[in-house]
Amino acid sequence: MARGKFITLEGGEGVGKSTNLIFLHDFLKVRNIPVVITREPGGTPLAEKLRALLLDKNGESIAATTELLLMFAARAQHIRHVIEPALAKGEWVLCDRFTDATYAYQGGARHMELSTIAWLEHLVQGSLRPDLTLLLDAPAETGLARARERRGEADRFEAEKRQFFEDVRLAYLKQAEQHPERIKIVAADRPLPDVQAALADSLSALLR
Ligand code: TMP
Repeated sequence: MARGKFITLEGGEGVGKSTNLIFLHDFLKVRNIPVVITREPGGTPLAEKLRALLLDKNGESIAATTELLLMFAARAQHIRHVIEPALAKGEWVLCDRFTDATYAYQGGARHMELSTIAWLEHLVQGSLRPDLTLLLDAPAETGLARARERRGEADRFEAEKRQFFEDVRLAYLKQAEQHPERIKIVAADRPLPDVQAALADSLSALLR
């Protein structure tokens, strides 16, 4: 049986990941592709517990190294119990964030060494990389305004200062520059139908 495809959706806060994840899911479903939808950090009971620890802004302060290791600990669990088994069964996996988020948030915004992240990526993932990454890109300010409208209380990341999200955005764009064959930048600060037309084009190319 053919191995499934691994697709990740990335972007800063408030770029419309949730809405577009549903769009991507439906796009594949109507084409009779078996698809598993999941997220990071999270996706298994243990990884969801780690997520809750990572997003909690009321606990003890979390060192950047701890944060990085918890992200990869959650990822190791997620790959072992959800992502790899699904791909092996021929299912496509649609994941809300993956390791590009670590390069953007822990690398770009928390200033962890990129070589350390690359080392952990190798340890945890071996050769596993997404087949396609869709990066929803919008100015940090636009995304933050949308995120504020939508949410109640901010989590530990959302409570960061604006510069943090500028750094996240720049690091994402740098990742895209370094992996142009895998990461497609989709401008997210335009009407939803235009964003979704671009997403559909990228998925169609992968289907071919
Ligand atoms: P979410 O808001 O998209 O559900 O993601 C939760 C937060 O976790 C988000 O603010 C980005 C952050 N994050 C990282 O800092 N590093 C990572 O590797 C991942 C997957 C998420």
